[in-house]
Amino acid sequence: MAVLSILCYPDPRLEKIAKPVAAVDARIAQLVADMKDTMYDAKGIGLAATQVDVHERVIVIDISEERDDPLVLINPELVWTSPASHLNEEGCLSVPGIYDGVQRFDAVHVRALDLDGKVRVVEAEALLAVCIQHEMDHLQGKVFVEYLSPLKRNRIKTKMRKAQREDAR
Ligand code: NI
Repeated sequence: MAVLSILCYPDPRLEKIAKPVAAVDARIAQLVADMKDTMYDAKGIGLAATQVDVHERVIVIDISEERDDPLVLINPELVWTSPASHLNEEGCLSVPGIYDGVQRFDAVHVRALDLDGKVRVVEAEALLAVCIQHEMDHLQGKVFVEYLSPLKRNRIKTKMRKAQREDAR
């Protein structure tokens, strides 16, 4: 078991754009195992590799109550989005303690590789759809607070920097 450290907003490494995974091999299997450990340890429902400073297109998600139903998405691509969208309250392990509304598609279909390197299409709605969109944004270097007004975003940046200074003491 390896719990990785999670980058905290506004760390500039969260803005890096992830590259596609070239081969689903033992290295990626280890990364996925470590990302699951990290997500469960942090009590999160999703984690993108970007957040652990690995800039490859890998996501782990688990929205189950029992925390025993992980979904692994490698090189995810949205192949369909619903016409309808809604405002959803979101949080992020990289922005602890901050929750705010983001407009997301109600449902998405995502094509990705699984850990066996097989292509699968996941049809997601509600919380799972929101989570997939949130984590895919991370792979594009986008944290959810970037959707908020500049005023709110700056307040959050100030708050995060202050918290990080206090942690470093
Ligand atoms: Ni996040």
